[in-house]
Amino acid sequence: MCGIVGIASKNNCIDNILSGLYSLEYRGYDSSGLATIKNNHFEYSKNIGKISNLQKSVKNNKLTGNVVIAHTRWATHGKPSIKNCHPFIKDNCVLVHNGIIENYTDLINYYSIKQKNIKSDTDTEIIAEIYNKLLNEFNNPIEAIKNLNKKIVGSFSFAFLVHGSKSIYVTRRGSPLVLGSGEGFNAVSSDVLGLPDNTKEIIFLEENDIAEVNDSSILIYDKNQIIKREKHKFIPKKEFKVKGNYKHFMEKEIFHQPISIEDTILNFADKKRKVVYLPKTNIKFNEFSNIIIVACGTAYHSCMVAKYWIEEMTDFNVSIDIASEYRYRKNKVNKNSFGIVVSQSGETMDTLKCLNKFKKNNIFTISIVNVLNSSIARLSDFILPTLAGPEIGVASTKAFTSQLSVLALFVLNLQQGSKNINKIFFNSIFSIHKSVKEILKKENEFKKIAKKLVDTKSIFYIGRGAMYPIALEGALKLKEITYKHCEGYAAGELKHGPLALIENNIPVIVLAPFDENYSKLLSNIQEVKARGGRIIMITDRDGAKKVKKYCDQIVIIPKTNFLTSPILYSIPVQLIAYYLAVFLGTDVDQPRNLAKSVTVE
Ligand code: G6P
Repeated sequence: MCGIVGIASKNNCIDNILSGLYSLEYRGYDSSGLATIKNNHFEYSKNIGKISNLQKSVKNNKLTGNVVIAHTRWATHGKPSIKNCHPFIKDNCVLVHNGIIENYTDLINYYSIKQKNIKSDTDTEIIAEIYNKLLNEFNNPIEAIKNLNKKIVGSFSFAFLVHGSKSIYVTRRGSPLVLGSGEGFNAVSSDVLGLPDNTKEIIFLEENDIAEVNDSSILIYDKNQIIKREKHKFIPKKEFKVKGNYKHFMEKEIFHQPISIEDTILNFADKKRKVVYLPKTNIKFNEFSNIIIVACGTAYHSCMVAKYWIEEMTDFNVSIDIASEYRYRKNKVNKNSFGIVVSQSGETMDTLKCLNKFKKNNIFTISIVNVLNSSIARLSDFILPTLAGPEIGVASTKAFTSQLSVLALFVLNLQQGSKNINKIFFNSIFSIHKSVKEILKKENEFKKIAKKLVDTKSIFYIGRGAMYPIALEGALKLKEITYKHCEGYAAGELKHGPLALIENNIPVIVLAPFDENYSKLLSNIQEVKARGGRIIMITDRDGAKKVKKYCDQIVIIPKTNFLTSPILYSIPVQLIAYYLAVFLGTDVDQPRNLAKSVTVE
């Protein structure tokens, strides 16, 4: 998929446009271009290759502009070249486009487009030519777009400049677009990452919406009238680097999760149509049969969860590995495989080496990263960003739930088009941020749990199914920042050893959504109880009904399902670790002996 960014500003916005394009470079970078309207004529720059080449052209042309649209291309129709590079400039309009127009040859006939007017190999130029005609006919940019949209088959997000107007006109179907507003400007982008850092509010356009965006207003139209769409707060990068009203970065990052999860999901999925849109790539994932996923630390726990999802919801074989192990093993990689690496920092040495190993084996590589200009992002064939924002606390929290969110969407994307698609999962992913908010409101209940853990020598987390990796993550969080001994176990494994450690008052925290594993978990709880262990249960309403009598402490969180439960149950384990560390007075954000980015072997 290509990337679009546009800004209508009271001031020259070329620098913001270029930095927006750099942020979207992960979506494709075989060529790029931008155009502005000045004194009622269009000026533009285009170049092939990376955005840095466009930046040089812009500098050489001394191009400035207050109203600018820009594009970074990933070729579909026609090879990367200046002639195929967006924007397309016609007498009355300029156009940048994401998506594919399926019926463009029919449109040429329908609108009697003259072949001599078409200079490129693209489907986009046909649309620019048609829109040019429609502007003459309707003399109204919005009416012209309404008319255009009626005739198109395919997916698109368009941004137009129109002769005689200082607005950017946008519309979308089957390809995302987000609007941003700030002091003295409004902006559009195919992706939240492309918006200027001083954006204050964002609006995700819905299917078939049309919007007129100028430096002081945004008007959104559906088919017949002006409409309002929900506004979301935009958090600029610099805000992540201060603690604000929080005592620690980790606390701030835990409480940021309703936003970071929702941003990550809406960046790749359409709430209304229930569709996942990943950036385009020239490979079809469903033509493969094996997936290999590697990562370190917390990121590895997200891979473990993904294995449960992929096995349950798709026909892929999936293998997961700790990067420091995978890189030294003699692994057999067949050509039917693609590889995924997951990393918050994008710099972890072991993970990077695994990516190199994938490349040596000539397999397609996907990176799920939080830092887009990192080594891992730059080296991989395809990037799926987590939109958690910079994470400062060494113990990863919001990056982890964003990794889970991206992996969940990736699995839903693998299912798309097949009969297996589960609507309940799809719906639940769009409301998960609300449930996370509800859990965060129970902070005092988790504080009470943490308080009672202050004097314990050992703590256990147990869970079954996809709760097992969350048990491991809970134990890791606790170890990292409280320095207490804590172990995560698959509940069924207790009897194979760790049960020997259970004695009077040893706390066992049970992650127990009321699902198909629940009754088995009850037996494990009784095994612990019989040996004097103290049961702390995190469950939902149905789960709580059955176990109250065995539990010393219980917290009820919202009901969830197989796909969303690992995301939800991550929150309690983070809060318990955080409050325990605060009670113990450890250095929460910079725990001893650890580092945020591990670039050594
Ligand atoms: C370090 C951090 C962990 C992180 C791991 C992997 O150990 O302290 O929080 O999970 O590295 O880092 P990555 O940046 O690759 O996700």
